[in-house]
Amino acid sequence: MSSPTPKAAQRIVFTGGSGVAGRHVVEKLLSYGHEILNVDVVPLDNSNVHTLKADLTDGAQAFNSLSCHFRVSEPFMDPIQKPDAVVHFAGIPQPMRIPDNETFRINTMGAYNIIESACKLGIKKIILASSLTTYGATYAEGDVDYPHFPLTEDSPTEPMDVYATSKLCMERIAHSFANRFKGVDIYCLRIGAVIEPEQHTKKFEAYLSRPGDFKVHGWSYTDSRDLGNMVQCCLQKDGLGFQVFNAVNDEITIPEEEGSSEEWLRKVCPRTKILGKMGEREAPVSNKKMREMLGFREEFPWRKVLDRDGR
Ligand SMILES: NC(=O)c1ccc[n+]([C@@H]2O[C@H](COP(=O)([O-])OP(=O)(O)OC[C@H]3O[C@@H](n4cnc5c(N)ncnc54)[C@H](O)[C@@H]3O)[C@@H](O)[C@H]2O)c1
Repeated sequence: MSSPTPKAAQRIVFTGGSGVAGRHVVEKLLSYGHEILNVDVVPLDNSNVHTLKADLTDGAQAFNSLSCHFRVSEPFMDPIQKPDAVVHFAGIPQPMRIPDNETFRINTMGAYNIIESACKLGIKKIILASSLTTYGATYAEGDVDYPHFPLTEDSPTEPMDVYATSKLCMERIAHSFANRFKGVDIYCLRIGAVIEPEQHTKKFEAYLSRPGDFKVHGWSYTDSRDLGNMVQCCLQKDGLGFQVFNAVNDEITIPEEEGSSEEWLRKVCPRTKILGKMGEREAPVSNKKMREMLGFREEFPWRKVLDRDGR
């Protein structure tokens, strides 16, 4: 394990901590000693974290969520303190769960309200859950090619669907606030398909038995606990201003027998250019920027989790 040592315990407002990804990230952040307030429309079953029920599409509720106590007490002895950081995961994680216009409204307005409130309250670190669906293939109408491999944060983003579009709008809002509020760091994490520990075996059975089906995931994934480590890296590193990071694990999700990443991608995506030399088993979505700028080191590589390292 080579995740960074915490510089200090921080006070973090975490939105969407009751969700699939959030609850694991919250758990990981608690293990680093941070104090967390969860803000969500539903409670989180974790006795170490208080949930403030709030709808973040309402600006006043977002503002209050970032400027309140971290738990209830009788009386409130300590004054309200400004959080060190806000981590914004709340939102709708897919198209077709609710009508498209609602997905767009909730994801863009929730993000806008959190970013604006944080900047105006003087919170210096904002971490946002974006998505690698922004590269366009995941929820495209039909089989769409990626622009090239490996996908980096500079690769074109041309999605057709409302979910990925809402995430790109969030990134754009973040960029404009970072231009206006100098000294505020806003890091957007383009997260891959999140895999929880309980789902690991089942998800990888599918990845390994039907690798051809997972172009939509870019043959890349994000372990939910390593996502916690990625957020921790973001909390540890100050002064980078506005940044976008691909937030995936290191390795491609195909079986070893299929050969190298390049061999696989040339076979299944013959029209897509490969820029430069890829690592033998490098994920097609590159996390190089996060490793180099934030010092991220994965703790849960899939082959270690499945005990396939020594096959
Ligand atoms: N799960 C993935 O594979 C994946 C991949 C890439 C990015 N993401 C992003 O990560 C974040 C978390 O995803 P998830 O899979 O945990 O989703 P989830 O639906 O399980 O969790 C989202 C949480 O946000 C809360 N929420 C929704 N609308 C809200 C509102 N208006 N106010 C307050 N809370 C609200 C929900 O109650 C829920 O607990 C999302 O922003 C999603 O777009 C997820």
